[in-house]
Amino acid sequence: MSYTIGIDTSTTATKAVLVDRSGEVIGVGVATYTAESPRPLWSEQHPDLWWSATQSAVRQVLTEAGVDGADVDALGLTGQMHGLVALDDAGLPLRPSILWNDQRTQDECNEIRRTVGFERLVRITGNDALTGFTAPKIIWMRHHEPDLYDRIRHVLLPKDFVRLRLTGDYACDRAGGGGTLLFEHAARTWSPEILAALDIPEEWLPPTHEGPDVTGVVSPEAAAATGLASGTPVVAGGGDQAASAVGTGAVAPGVVTASLGTSGVVFATTAGPAIDAQGRVHAFPHAVPGRWHMMGVTLAAAGSLAWLHDAVAADRSYEELSSLAATTVPGAGGLVFLPYLSGERTPHPDPLARGAFVGLTTRHELGHLVRAVMEGVAMSLRDALDVMVAAGVDRPAQIRISGGGAKSPVWRQIVADVLDAEVATVNTTEGAAYGAALLAAVGAGWFESVDEAAARWIRVVESAPPQASGPYDELHEVYRSLYPSLQPAMHRLGEI
Ligand code: XUL
Repeated sequence: MSYTIGIDTSTTATKAVLVDRSGEVIGVGVATYTAESPRPLWSEQHPDLWWSATQSAVRQVLTEAGVDGADVDALGLTGQMHGLVALDDAGLPLRPSILWNDQRTQDECNEIRRTVGFERLVRITGNDALTGFTAPKIIWMRHHEPDLYDRIRHVLLPKDFVRLRLTGDYACDRAGGGGTLLFEHAARTWSPEILAALDIPEEWLPPTHEGPDVTGVVSPEAAAATGLASGTPVVAGGGDQAASAVGTGAVAPGVVTASLGTSGVVFATTAGPAIDAQGRVHAFPHAVPGRWHMMGVTLAAAGSLAWLHDAVAADRSYEELSSLAATTVPGAGGLVFLPYLSGERTPHPDPLARGAFVGLTTRHELGHLVRAVMEGVAMSLRDALDVMVAAGVDRPAQIRISGGGAKSPVWRQIVADVLDAEVATVNTTEGAAYGAALLAAVGAGWFESVDEAAARWIRVVESAPPQASGPYDELHEVYRSLYPSLQPAMHRLGEI
């Protein structure tokens, strides 16, 4: 037998997924870690955690599955996007990585918009400057840690630090590279103009590669540390969102995905480098060679339900909450929820946005609150989809849904109704790590293309058509009017 492994360096754990030639998952190894918040708005993790977790997760999956490292044909890497890994000339981390959900760089984002010019920035990179992206973090180091900044010789993304330890090579996938804000979107690589404007040396940045391209091979030292064979090819892979889309078969225009994880994402593949001129949705290269994608991110999706559960219904299971929502009237009796509990990205890039229930009366019970939360998250996904459609994405007939929240049948139906599309689930459940294993299978030569691999390995198992969308169009109008009218109060409350 031969296998590939997908390794996902996420914010909470490193996961290694072992897949055989038929696409079946043979085993999963996991090693967890936590993020630190040493100051308000900060989110950091030391890169060494990722490398030791990779060693444990890979050893675990090989041992438990009884597979010899020599039978692994290729590895694919994926992981949290946007994080800054700043390395010295020996490839050692100068400081903990500043992660995707770190919010310290609002001033640097403003500086980038001023320096490059907002329109030009979006035209070149496809994106607005957001606090989570990599470029403002580099500039933050220049302003706040000049001694460390002077010692930077390499800048990598989290998954590419794992690649460096596995292979000794500095390299980056193009889907992840787009999330740095230093890419020329159409050219799929570093933008000389943006780098010059921001005074960031191009030699700090690694060569970029398409998702299934082999970037290097496992070194003898890494083989000894992981149980893999020395010389095993490692493919570029992709940032976790692009790899997750690959893992659910969203590889060609027309297939849109939505995920209900802690955050929620709507993801649409595009044949060309489409962008929203106002930068309200992200636009990055896809992990599929020669394709791009647009993506909207709402920061608290299943995270909103987790909050409601913990705050007012900790004694109930999620299945009970889901059943309560299912027996509650659509529209939750005139109750609307804004899911901006962690600030927001799409379509309101505002770290100071806050959540709200609007329309509460004495008639509302727990079921109404749960249903309103599910509907509010779906409305936020619809906001993102509407921006993408306005930017040229075809309104999808089918949306492939994944993430913990998608286990709830009523939440899936709400998404179908609010976004007015059939909602489907697929046979794969390992998300980004599975996508990375698929990209590795293409790199290993098992398939001619990502399209062929996805067609062979991934299929729809269940789907629900939209039902008469009831009050949702009208509710969405109310929902959309609320952020602009509440925004001044949200910001003021933050100050108080
Ligand atoms: C994508 C994003 C998250 C992180 C963490 O833009 O910020 O998906 O990659 O998983």
